[in-house]
Amino acid sequence: VLPKILLTRTMPPETQKLIENAQDIELIHWKDGAIPRDQLLKLVPGVSGILCMLTEKIDSEVLDVAGPNLKVVSTFSVGYDHVDLNELRKRKILFGYTPNVLTDATAELTALLVLAASRRMREGICAVENGEWNKWGPLWMLGTQLTNKTVGIVGLGRIGAATAHRLKPFLGANGKIIYTANSDKQAATELGATRVKFDMLIREADVICICCSLNNQTREMFDYDVFKVMKKNVILVNTARGPIIQQDDLVRALSEGLLGSVGLDVTTPEPLDPDHPLLKFSNVTVIPHLGSATLETRTTMGNLAVENVLSGVRGQPLPSPLEL
Ligand code: GLV
Ligand code: GLV
Repeated sequence: VLPKILLTRTMPPETQKLIENAQDIELIHWKDGAIPRDQLLKLVPGVSGILCMLTEKIDSEVLDVAGPNLKVVSTFSVGYDHVDLNELRKRKILFGYTPNVLTDATAELTALLVLAASRRMREGICAVENGEWNKWGPLWMLGTQLTNKTVGIVGLGRIGAATAHRLKPFLGANGKIIYTANSDKQAATELGATRVKFDMLIREADVICICCSLNNQTREMFDYDVFKVMKKNVILVNTARGPIIQQDDLVRALSEGLLGSVGLDVTTPEPLDPDHPLLKFSNVTVIPHLGSATLETRTTMGNLAVENVLSGVRGQPLPSPLEL
């Protein structure tokens, strides 16, 4: 019998062909949107490989149910907070992910949210649609300009650095880039960026981009006490993971007028309920986790995730492993 691979979604066409053309495996393909937990548990017994999304929690229960054939878990994402790495390590299961290939797309989207938040894009669109364009005047819908501002990058890794590179031209000669956490020294030098303590970043930055991964150190790192000390007109953008922000505290800070404008590509939970209080604030722009959502990037991610899972099942080294 051929080793089985569980694929939890339909991939971009080129990627889908790549895995369907593999002759040495049996593909179990969940085609119907996000796989419900009970279906995941039903389909996983006996598989040798799992190709999953960030919507699937891969924990000890899934691994136990999968059983001893399981050699590799491959996620179609750079983030892996949905995967229990300790449990993989204990069972000597390989793990593959998709860093690097989505850096540009995610940085592009982060820059988009910064610009959209700073220039009140959502309110502008709503005004046009609601027939309020006649309110136009010299003081109508004024935003914040990026020239001469200080951008604070929380997590100057691949995505953080690529975001800073994209924002830098907007800042002009007198703008500044400051950063904190898992720093890429070379990127910082290229950017002329200054490393500061988190406490200082949140006080000094006019624009704050959250670009770090979610882990025990960063979970709810942004809470009410942090929002309280930010600049009153601060632009806060999160394209990393929702739980890095204490979301109830964010709602409170917004309702007290403590923040200028907020752009979120990630929330807690996802999807966010359309009646969620966050969506009531006109200075909050929420988009549905689209960081890597370009056809080019999703295809490259998909191909890499497929190569990871096939290599693992074939007993070959993964092209893009995370060493556990
Ligand atoms: C997206 O959020 C990813 O982790 O790839
Ligand atoms: C974080 O997700 C990174 O790729 O730097």
